[in-house]
Amino acid sequence: AMSLTSTLSPVLSVVFSPRVSSAEEGTHLITAPTHHWDAITEMDEQNRPIHTFQVCNVMEPNQNNWLRSNWIQRQAAQKVFVELRFTLRDCNSIPWVSGTCKETFNLFYLETDQPHSATTRFLPVDTIAADESFTQTDLGDRVLRLNTEVREVGPVTRKGFYLAFQDVGACIALVSVKVFYKRCPSTLRNLAAFPDTVPRVDSSSLVEVRGACVENAEERDTPKLYCGADGDWLVPLGLCVCSLGHEETDGVCQACRPGFYKAFAGNTKCSKCPPHSSSHDQAGTICHCDKGFYRAAKDPSSMACTRSPSAPRNLISLINETALFLTWSAPSDSGGRKDLTYNVLCHRCSGAPGGEEDCEPCDADLRFVPRPLGITGTSVAVLDFAKHVNYTFYVEAVNGVSSLGQGSRPLANITVTTDQAGPSLVGVVRKDWASDNSIALSWLEGEQQPNAILDYEIKYYEKEQEQLSYSSTRTKTPRAVVTGLKPSTVYVFRLRSRTATGFTAYSNTFEFSTGDESKDVLCVCVSACVCACCNRCQGYIKAKIKSEDKRRGPFQNVVPFPGIKTYVDPDTYEDPTQAVHEFTKQIDPSRICIERVIGAGEFGEVCSGRLRTAGQTETPVAIKTLKGGYMERQRRDFLREASIMGQFDNPNVIRLEGVVTKSRPVMIVVEYMENGSLDSFLRKHDGQFTVIQLVGMLRGIASGMTYLSDMGYVHRDLAARNILVNEALVCKVSDFGLSRVLEDDPEAAYTTTGGKIPIRWTAPEAIAYRKFSSASDAWSYGIVMWEVMSYGERPYWEMSNQDVILSIEEGYRLPAPMGCPVALHQLMLHCWQKERGQRPYFSDVVSFLDNGIRFSLRSPVVIICPFSKLSFPESPEVMPHYPLFISIGDWLDSIKMSQYKSNFLAAGFTTLDSVSAMTLEDVRRIGVSLIGHQRRIVSSIQTLRLQLLSDQHNGFHV
Ligand code: ADE
Repeated sequence: AMSLTSTLSPVLSVVFSPRVSSAEEGTHLITAPTHHWDAITEMDEQNRPIHTFQVCNVMEPNQNNWLRSNWIQRQAAQKVFVELRFTLRDCNSIPWVSGTCKETFNLFYLETDQPHSATTRFLPVDTIAADESFTQTDLGDRVLRLNTEVREVGPVTRKGFYLAFQDVGACIALVSVKVFYKRCPSTLRNLAAFPDTVPRVDSSSLVEVRGACVENAEERDTPKLYCGADGDWLVPLGLCVCSLGHEETDGVCQACRPGFYKAFAGNTKCSKCPPHSSSHDQAGTICHCDKGFYRAAKDPSSMACTRSPSAPRNLISLINETALFLTWSAPSDSGGRKDLTYNVLCHRCSGAPGGEEDCEPCDADLRFVPRPLGITGTSVAVLDFAKHVNYTFYVEAVNGVSSLGQGSRPLANITVTTDQAGPSLVGVVRKDWASDNSIALSWLEGEQQPNAILDYEIKYYEKEQEQLSYSSTRTKTPRAVVTGLKPSTVYVFRLRSRTATGFTAYSNTFEFSTGDESKDVLCVCVSACVCACCNRCQGYIKAKIKSEDKRRGPFQNVVPFPGIKTYVDPDTYEDPTQAVHEFTKQIDPSRICIERVIGAGEFGEVCSGRLRTAGQTETPVAIKTLKGGYMERQRRDFLREASIMGQFDNPNVIRLEGVVTKSRPVMIVVEYMENGSLDSFLRKHDGQFTVIQLVGMLRGIASGMTYLSDMGYVHRDLAARNILVNEALVCKVSDFGLSRVLEDDPEAAYTTTGGKIPIRWTAPEAIAYRKFSSASDAWSYGIVMWEVMSYGERPYWEMSNQDVILSIEEGYRLPAPMGCPVALHQLMLHCWQKERGQRPYFSDVVSFLDNGIRFSLRSPVVIICPFSKLSFPESPEVMPHYPLFISIGDWLDSIKMSQYKSNFLAAGFTTLDSVSAMTLEDVRRIGVSLIGHQRRIVSSIQTLRLQLLSDQHNGFHV
């Protein structure tokens, strides 16, 4: 539920109270009684003193005794509440006072900006009567029949005010007067502080209050609360979260303890420092690595600190004629990381026998497969090595933090001599001649059998551009002319031969330069790259819509009831006139008599009128017209609703009488619903129905929806404004036509996905991804229940659509409307389950409400039923149906028109039955002259009539 806190009401003033002496309280005493009110101290049942003000001039006529409070400062109040506790003597228990003795007194107030002595111009608040009056016997028995009444005063705007009590001949003892106002008390919610807030005077609107994040917290989503009229905080939205280095404890953000840290703002707790790290101070946002351990730049703060790995183990080599293989196993200590790779470095030593080894880094020609650095496996192949050379290979293991550590890195090494390697070219490679762009080379064949050599490969590059790029060429003979060279440039050459077993090792390097003769012709072959782009397929391919998708809406997820006719979407007809023809009856316009315009629809006026039926009888009807100058599409959309409605036949679904399409204007004729739409009807009769009557309306709607959902029809816009109410309070579902209905509905708003949806009434899955189903209708039905039980209040008051979506998403739901039995609110909550599969079927709702009507709801006691069971416990006996008003006096009291009691009685209107038949004329005739009073009385008579009518019909038309 949305209600969050109970009201804390600041007391403006305890004018006086029985236990505290006026002098002690010292704030606002009732001023000295001007006439006949006496300050009297009495003893209560326990012999404790009670300070009271009393008056009891019941024998003398025309009493007018006033008692006034001191000036009471208004403070922040906009609406003030006065709680009166008093005892009042029953006139019947005092002999000889009839005519002079009264059983009420009046409460007045006067607003001023400062205290002054004038006591005129007091405004009436209310006439106060006792629920409990006492008799002489009670006095003898010392039974205190104390009444407590609370009245609203205001809106108040001046700096202060007086209260005054007027006695007109009653026997009263005023025991205490407490003056207070309501406010939403300052509170902490979601780590945001909300200040004391005074609600709006207008009880239907909420005050939106922004919260401020508590210390060491920051906003995630703007924290908001709404202050309701009763001083309750509603609908918490948004939140603050604890900043880094802080965690939430008991609603505040506390610093992380040493040894703990929090690296991000959020709703998480401080975490213990990961292994090999520590934090020494409070509010740690990160834990620092212990000596010798490190964190790589991309390591998350939650990761343990790590170190470089130890050396690889078991390094061995393997060599054949053309390749040298190195393999090793992983180091014993990975340093605590998984990002282990290996680098292979190489030194070449000229192993002069017995002499000093002369070592230098290996030639760049040496090839490593897959690569020399960043090897992820534990082996590498070394190619293109020279023969008779000592190569020393170093293998190091590295990880993400190797570069961060200091000191030497542990390496594994191995020396390999390439004597056993394959043949290479012996002798010298010679330059035969050179031109500007060519060099002719020749060489001696090696140890290899010449016929074993398949060909030679010559690799060469510009010496100055070493390593940047090299070229190669092949020849079958031991000579070659290398062309395409730059003039006067030194080139480096290496050769190798290829046999059936593969390549030999490369020869040593030879350097030759081109000459400056420029007679060589260089033949350049340029192969053009032609890019052909295909533009043909660049457009979008329109998504193909499957045929069943086209008719999704109403059939979605609905397994129509076996044996029950299913609804056919008129849109599935190629020719919409065919659907009109099939599902509606043509009415001869001469049978229709239009009387009045009662509203305006999207397509034209809505009128009331009569339809002549076969036996010359006339039925009241509502007539929807299509205004002239319409387009064909408008006519089709207009008649679409009739094609839908014409398929339904249920007492709780609006009935189509027929259509006029063969003449102008085009019309849809439906049954007339005297009380119009349910939302405005309830607003007009605020507070005037019994719970059981409201439940009867809801039962009717649920019954209509059971029928529609069994037919496979999904309404999509179920809301009180789309329910019509007839003379006998029967509610009927109306407004059909899917998309068109939404176009027409002023409540429908565009969603981010472009659909038009009445957000406050629509289930979350339908808003989010247009998943409309009977289950989403059940959600809307829950909202209708709330509208009905709150007499047409706007769901979620004036919260924005965005806030409604957010609060629903966060799990909040509308609270029970005032006076709504808990069981009904439970049913609403059941309809508002996030999981659509868990919402009730309409048929279950009907049974539930039927049980409620028969049992619990008749009881004035609210029975709480378990949410999951969703049933009312059977009460042991059927409670009597309480009549709404017992007497004319009660009725007039309830509408605050008690002053006309004698007018009614004197004119002979002594029973509610007779009153219910009164007209405005009658009301004027008996002496009610103020127009406002006439209106109030006539409106209440109409309700009375409805109530009596529905009582006769055994409670409800369902
Ligand atoms: N307004 C729209 N339709 C109506 C109907 N059927 N009866 C009364 N008022 C209406």
